[in-house]
Amino acid sequence: MRVLVVGSGGREHALCWKLSQSPMVEKIYCVPGNGGIEEIAQCVDLEYEKSFSELVQLIKKEKIDYTLVGPEAPLVAGMVDYFRKRELKIFGPSKKAARIEGSKVFAKRFMKKYQIPTADFAIFSDSVKAIEYIEKQSKPQVIKVDGLAGGKGALVCQTKREAVKAVKEILEEKAFGDAGKRIVVEERLRGKEISFFVLTDGTAVKALVSSQDHKPILDYDNGPNTGGMGAYSPAPLSPSLFRKIMGRIIQPTLGGLKEEDSPYRGVLYLGLMIEAGEPKVLEFNARFGDPETQVTLPRLKNDLLKVLLAVSQGSLERIKLEWRRQAATCVVLSSAGYPGKYETGKTIEGLSQLSHIKNVFPFWAGVKRENGNLITSGGRVLGITALADTIKESIRQAYRGVSKVHFEGMHYRSDIGYQALK
Ligand code: AMP
Ligand code: GLY
Repeated sequence: MRVLVVGSGGREHALCWKLSQSPMVEKIYCVPGNGGIEEIAQCVDLEYEKSFSELVQLIKKEKIDYTLVGPEAPLVAGMVDYFRKRELKIFGPSKKAARIEGSKVFAKRFMKKYQIPTADFAIFSDSVKAIEYIEKQSKPQVIKVDGLAGGKGALVCQTKREAVKAVKEILEEKAFGDAGKRIVVEERLRGKEISFFVLTDGTAVKALVSSQDHKPILDYDNGPNTGGMGAYSPAPLSPSLFRKIMGRIIQPTLGGLKEEDSPYRGVLYLGLMIEAGEPKVLEFNARFGDPETQVTLPRLKNDLLKVLLAVSQGSLERIKLEWRRQAATCVVLSSAGYPGKYETGKTIEGLSQLSHIKNVFPFWAGVKRENGNLITSGGRVLGITALADTIKESIRQAYRGVSKVHFEGMHYRSDIGYQALK
């Protein structure tokens, strides 16, 4: 089969890498792809964010059989509906189902309606009312923009002053544009965070192995949130917690979406906070995680294409997901300034040395090739991933990989995975 992957980050590199191992895959295309994906796929740089028509032209011209969408924006904009109308095969939820990620206001109201455990909240579009509400709260609050914000739209505030500042920036100064027309103000939860993924074809539901992302830019979870600075798998998840998540969160969520006339098909990603063994939903996403995908796919034994097709065709029940017992860790290297305004155009050195280290995979994100050199071109530049017998060893190997790579202003967290060792 000819498969198209949409996206350009480390997640899409990992997806292409895993797809390239499938005997069923004849050729991979990636729009727009990146310098690393180029080695395994034909990258085509075309406009797809505003209109899907060029993508459809490419699919027809190249006789592409199946499309997999990495990022949320095209899903929320309705790419899956557009493709299905034209009888093109694609993996992912409909526009209506993807609202669960596209609007935090929708997601919070949905959770309230279906009694899915989440932080207490209120919704505002008026800054005066939001500030009045914040002044009355006794616990610290998190301010979230309603729409998509590339993982940077949740402002975790330590004090009322910070919360008020965030409200003003979003609702008055429009720091997030239209995505911030409405905000959610919610109670700040304490506990351990995990990422939880399920595949569903609308009927069968299968969980992926557990993983944990590290959102803040600095060690020990300090500094502003990013798209994700590293991940490891497996993350601690007891059988009883697993049952609670499936029973109290996944079932009512998928059932509720059906009742709302938007049955979910694809991969559903939950960010969860676990306090004293009780899970609460921080957020829903309608896609694979970045960088969680970089640590879950190296552990997956199945043919990824077969699994995705089973989701699309409604035959997931027949698939048994099989996982390597090994652990994986991914350390993200980012550009100076990220997640704020960041520098690009720096020469990357040492990447070729990684091919000599067994089971270390560099997944490329913001890297391009220019006159034979590798140049940084994004905020998150590379995800150095290692697979090993234990978490401890995978952390060690990932950092061994990191130590070989250099570019000016290179930043990474030095504590990825350490929570798993406690
Ligand atoms: P979100 O985009 O909603 O997933 O938020 C991004 C990150 O902000 C999460 O991964 C958490 O680390 C943090 N966060 C979001 N909501 C809360 C909350 N209610 N309490 C504590 N931390 C939160
Ligand atoms: N790991 C964060 C995200 O994919 O949104």
